[in-house]
Amino acid sequence: MKIIVCENYNEISKEGAKIIADLLREKPDCILGLATGSTPIGMYKELIGMYEAGEISFDRVTSYNLDEYYPIAPTHEQSYRYFMNANLFDHVNIDKTKTFVPNGLTEDPEKEGAAYDAAIEAAGGVDLQVLGIGQNGHIGFNEPDDALIAGTHITSLTDNTIEANSRFFASKADVPTKAFTMGIGSIMKAKKIILLANGTNKHAAVAQMLDDKITTSCPATILKAHPDVILICDRAALNG
Ligand code: PGA
Repeated sequence: MKIIVCENYNEISKEGAKIIADLLREKPDCILGLATGSTPIGMYKELIGMYEAGEISFDRVTSYNLDEYYPIAPTHEQSYRYFMNANLFDHVNIDKTKTFVPNGLTEDPEKEGAAYDAAIEAAGGVDLQVLGIGQNGHIGFNEPDDALIAGTHITSLTDNTIEANSRFFASKADVPTKAFTMGIGSIMKAKKIILLANGTNKHAAVAQMLDDKITTSCPATILKAHPDVILICDRAALNG
């Protein structure tokens, strides 16, 4: 795993955006795997700035998001579809019909998950996957567990994740207890992965990812088996 150590959040955002911008120039019809959460917001702002400056275009891009709460309507302000529209898609020239987020309202999650993976495969696979990391070492919503699942599936969120995400909801009780997530196999199929981590609250997870053997109790450790992962983090996340 390559590590880019940044001085602050702003620099993390710029480094991440630069990697995406380079890919957009090199392969304008690339497939992006996108992530939500607080961490990538600055990177999306940088990309919007580059688009407004005429430096990059999203007109031929297809995107697949990592996860979505379940059940949740796409119009719900805390849905990840809503997040992506508000933080990126509404501000750039991406064709929204080519932006995909797992359907948080599907009545057949198993079919939805399999179709999601098949669509990514048929599109040629994810060229660049953006990831954050949970304080518990999760990637997407692949939570620490006895076993990890390969494909896109519905999972139960751990109390730690519900607690961490309750900051966006009126109360902890309002956080959905389930979510769709790309599975570990889907994530590992991406040709390149960037993982953004900022702040001391991510240090334990980042340290475990870097120092531990691959273990299902810290799903991010699996990334050490991928040939092209770049960790972009500040010193607090890296060193505590
Ligand atoms: P965060 O979430 O960016 O909001 O910290 C990251 C994650 O849980 O994967």
